[in-house]
Amino acid sequence: MKIVGVGHYAPPRVVTNHDLESWLDTTDDWITTRTGMKRRHWASEEEATSDLATAAASAALVHAGMRAQEIDCFIVATVTPDYYFPATACLVASKLGVTDKPAFDIGIACSGFIYGLTVASGLIRSGVYQRVMLIGAETLSKILDKHDRSTAILFGDGAGAVILQRSAEDSFLASDLGADGSRPELLYAEGSGARRPLDHAALDAKVHLIHMQGRETFKLAVQRMVDATGSVLKKANLAKADVTFLVPHQANRRIIDAMARYLDLPDEKVVVNISEYGNTSAASIPMALSETVRAGLVKPEDLIVFVAFGGGLSWGAVAWRWTA
Ligand code: UT7
Repeated sequence: MKIVGVGHYAPPRVVTNHDLESWLDTTDDWITTRTGMKRRHWASEEEATSDLATAAASAALVHAGMRAQEIDCFIVATVTPDYYFPATACLVASKLGVTDKPAFDIGIACSGFIYGLTVASGLIRSGVYQRVMLIGAETLSKILDKHDRSTAILFGDGAGAVILQRSAEDSFLASDLGADGSRPELLYAEGSGARRPLDHAALDAKVHLIHMQGRETFKLAVQRMVDATGSVLKKANLAKADVTFLVPHQANRRIIDAMARYLDLPDEKVVVNISEYGNTSAASIPMALSETVRAGLVKPEDLIVFVAFGGGLSWGAVAWRWTA
């Protein structure tokens, strides 16, 4: 299979580090040096994840020169669905005018796009579907405690979409996924699920919002993403020097830099857009890919490694050979 179209969308409202300074005990300097973030986009009250996802998917359809009716299956990777159920993918397909095709969500936080690529690869390469729309989309601003400086500064909203199509040339070289659910509390939104249904006490305790133990998560992120990249290259019988672009999940500039150092990758091979969007969870990789492809930087035969780490804990990497 190969990618035949990419698209991305971020809501117009921009929140800068200086904006955050106006209500949080933080500084532009702290946020910039500790995270690499300068701005993030936050959705309006009227906008939900399906709106962002639909905008990104529409852009990908235009890019591919395709109609939504030609897509066989819609997948949305998200942890901020419009509703607890139905799946956001159903809403997106219908907004695109499609009401008879399969659509489902993948809820594995920041690793969602990597898991999605792997699932889509199974569906397409086995011949079940010809064309899959895979979207990573989040409105994390809706589950942020805007008064918790340890998380409020980090997360943003956005969506990225790819259209995957069965083809003679196979871009999908290998995948390496993992998960460890023994410590969900390192990064989670505890409330409103079956374990802690929402009631007044839960709301007062803000358990429906994102909680993260940043320092511990940071260390695991570097280790897991370096290991996943090494494993996926080994599975694909490739070396670090073969990598044209690393497209990592954008959680922290320091995590990305540490990873690049371990992998001996120079800056020009590492795609970073964190200063503009912050951490957009499942959306970060497809947004970064779409920007890079649309800038004309990706050439046929380029080797791209996508790699992510996040809530679950979960992680994964996919090795991808770009085909025209
Ligand atoms: O997307 C899924 C994966 N996510 C990640 O991988 C995120 C991983 N974690 C991180 O990126 C970093 O741990 C953070 C950016 C969240 C935090 O950076 P850090 O360098 O680990 O800071 P820290 O939590 O160790 O805090 C250092 C100090 C503390 O003050 P004291 O106790 O040393 O006096 C914090 O209270 O910085 C303080 N601090 C802040 N100061 C100004 C924490 N947040 C802020 C803030 N502004 N926004």
